[in-house]
Amino acid sequence: MRTVLAIGIGAGDPDQVTVEAIRALNRTDVFFVLDKGPAAADLVALRRLICERYIDDPRYRVVEAPDPPRDLSGPSYAADVGDWHDRRVGVYETLLLNQLADGEVGSFLVWGDPALYDSTLRILDAVAARGEVAFRVEVVPGISSVQALAAAHRIALHGVGAPVHVTTGRRLAEEGWPDGVDDVVVMLDGRRAFTTVDPEGVTIYWGAYLGTPDQILLSGPLATMAAELEQVRAEARDRKGWMFDTYLLRRER
Ligand SMILES: C[S@@+](CC[C@H](N)C(=O)[O-])C[C@H]1O[C@@H](n2cnc3c(N)ncnc32)[C@H](O)[C@@H]1O
Repeated sequence: MRTVLAIGIGAGDPDQVTVEAIRALNRTDVFFVLDKGPAAADLVALRRLICERYIDDPRYRVVEAPDPPRDLSGPSYAADVGDWHDRRVGVYETLLLNQLADGEVGSFLVWGDPALYDSTLRILDAVAARGEVAFRVEVVPGISSVQALAAAHRIALHGVGAPVHVTTGRRLAEEGWPDGVDDVVVMLDGRRAFTTVDPEGVTIYWGAYLGTPDQILLSGPLATMAAELEQVRAEARDRKGWMFDTYLLRRER
C-alpha cells in the first residue's frame, strides 16, 4: 500500500512548521511539487528550505509535475474550476502510479493548512475514487494564513462566543457582507474586495506575505485605510510579482 501525506507547512515562516510536520517530512520518500503561477518560484524555494532545514537524511526524491493551467474565463466559475480539478486528478494519478512504489510514502507540502482553500485533499479523494491506484492518506495540520494574521495583529478573530465567517474576495465582492456576522476573514482576493463593502464602522486588519521577510501589516478604520491599502498592495504586487494577502473585516458591535 502506498501512503500519501498532505503536510501543512505553515503560511510562510519556516519556524511555523510543527513537530508533527517534521516527523512527516522525515518519513517521506518522494515529494511531489506542482506549483504554478508567478508565486511558484518563491513557494518552491520555501519548501526547499524547509526540507533542507528539517530532514535529517537527504535521500528523498523530488518529483515536479506541470500543474494544468487554470482557465477561469468561461461563463461558469464553478465549471471552470471543476474542469481544472479533473485535469489535476489525472496528473496526480499518474504521479502516484509512476513515481511512488508500493510501500513508499509520498508527500504534498501544502501551504498553510490543507483544510483551508486548498484542493489537495479533494483531488486525492477523486484519484482514490477512480480506483486505478490504491493508497492511504494522512493529513498533518499546519498554521494557516488566518492564524498567522491573527497572531501578527495580536487579535482574536471574533467577539466572545460569536462566529467568524471565512470567505473569498470573489464572494465578498459578489454577494456583499454575509448575514449574521460582524467578523469576516477574506482570502484569495484578486479584486480588492475590501473596496466593495460599506466602510462605515468597519475596521480592517490586513496582512500580506505573512510570516515571510516581506510581511506587511496594516490596520485601522476601513474608511480611512482603503486608499492607502490599495496603494501599498499594488506597489508590493509590482515589486514581488505576486500577492498573497489575508484580512479581517470587523464591524463595530
Ligand atoms: C490557495 S489559498 C491557500 C490557503 C492556505 N491553505 C492557508 O491555510 O492559509 C491562498 C490564499 O491564502 C492566503 N495566504 C496564504 N499564505 C499567505 C501569507 N503568507 N500571507 C497572507 N495571506 C496568505 C491568501 O489569501 C492567498 O490568496
